[in-house]
Amino acid sequence: MQEITLTQPDDWHLHVRDGDVLHTVVPHTAAQFGRAIIMPNLKPPVTTAAQALGYKARILAAVPKGVNFEPLMTLYLTDNLPADEIRRAKDAGVVALKLYPAGATTNSDAGVTDLRKTYQTLEAMQREGILLLVHGEVTSPDIDLFDREAVFIDNQLIPLRKDFPELKIVFEHITTKEAAQYVQGADAYTGATITAHHLLYNRNAIFTGGIRPHYYCLPVLKRETHRLALVQAATSGSRKFFLGTDSAPHPAHLKEHASGCAGCYTAFSAMELYAQAFDAADALDKLEGFASFHGADFYGLPRNQGTITLRREAWAVPDSFALGEARLKPLCADETLQWRMT
Ligand code: NCD
Ligand code: ZN
Repeated sequence: MQEITLTQPDDWHLHVRDGDVLHTVVPHTAAQFGRAIIMPNLKPPVTTAAQALGYKARILAAVPKGVNFEPLMTLYLTDNLPADEIRRAKDAGVVALKLYPAGATTNSDAGVTDLRKTYQTLEAMQREGILLLVHGEVTSPDIDLFDREAVFIDNQLIPLRKDFPELKIVFEHITTKEAAQYVQGADAYTGATITAHHLLYNRNAIFTGGIRPHYYCLPVLKRETHRLALVQAATSGSRKFFLGTDSAPHPAHLKEHASGCAGCYTAFSAMELYAQAFDAADALDKLEGFASFHGADFYGLPRNQGTITLRREAWAVPDSFALGEARLKPLCADETLQWRMT
């Protein structure tokens, strides 16, 4: 296959930050995707409907003229987010709340310390049809970093699922065979996003020829057996799995640092990276369902109308982009990709 045309895809997990950074990163996403689920882990986090509306307006102001792009807004679940905010969130068009276990990742200090503290809010969400998006890792220091997702399933997700049988839950950016199997076996209220980088790389990428901070993200890349399980899930045609880049911009100097930030910037070439992963699995025919249908269907939103086209063509990813005074390095900077959006 030399060319593939898809219904316009959506990104069901994206970080765009705030302020000037929006003018660098929002156009990259808007060039490829019709909609994106905007993560609320700003400093301070987005915890009210009013804040979400203000943030949405700032994102829209960074969309280039003539481009159609809809940010889908989320709130950050905390121990104290009041249940009555859910009604206001629904009215404001907020589609989901994000659960970060406290301390799990970038800007997650305000995250949930004990799920039981959020039960009234989760009940209101279940009632209003607002989704719960889950960063599925336990944070306890005695659990090995590479086991945190698998332990989360047993200790947190399975009990949560039982207590809220009709709450739609997206297990975000899954990275393990255990997570893929759990979602595959779960009921129709459970879905999962998968990033391009977790389909393309295993944990060796972080250490090849020296430590490579641009391959460091959370949940961290896992062993090859897990990557293969994710590729299998993404290309299986199952409607439970859909595209979520988890593109997470950080200034290059804060990633190339003694205590480097977690996050891979993939928004600039997201569909090209996914096409490469699906092509390698000989499954380009499954890309449209994963990228353009399954997520919209799970969220109960209409599928997009337009199309995008990818062509088989070697091209080099730019070395970096200006990010205010700093630089932003995309994943695969200076490397050659085999697919290009026309
Ligand atoms: C994200 C970020 O930088 O905001 N980082 C990451 O490695 N994915 C946070 C997150 O989604 O975990
Ligand atoms: Zn994320």
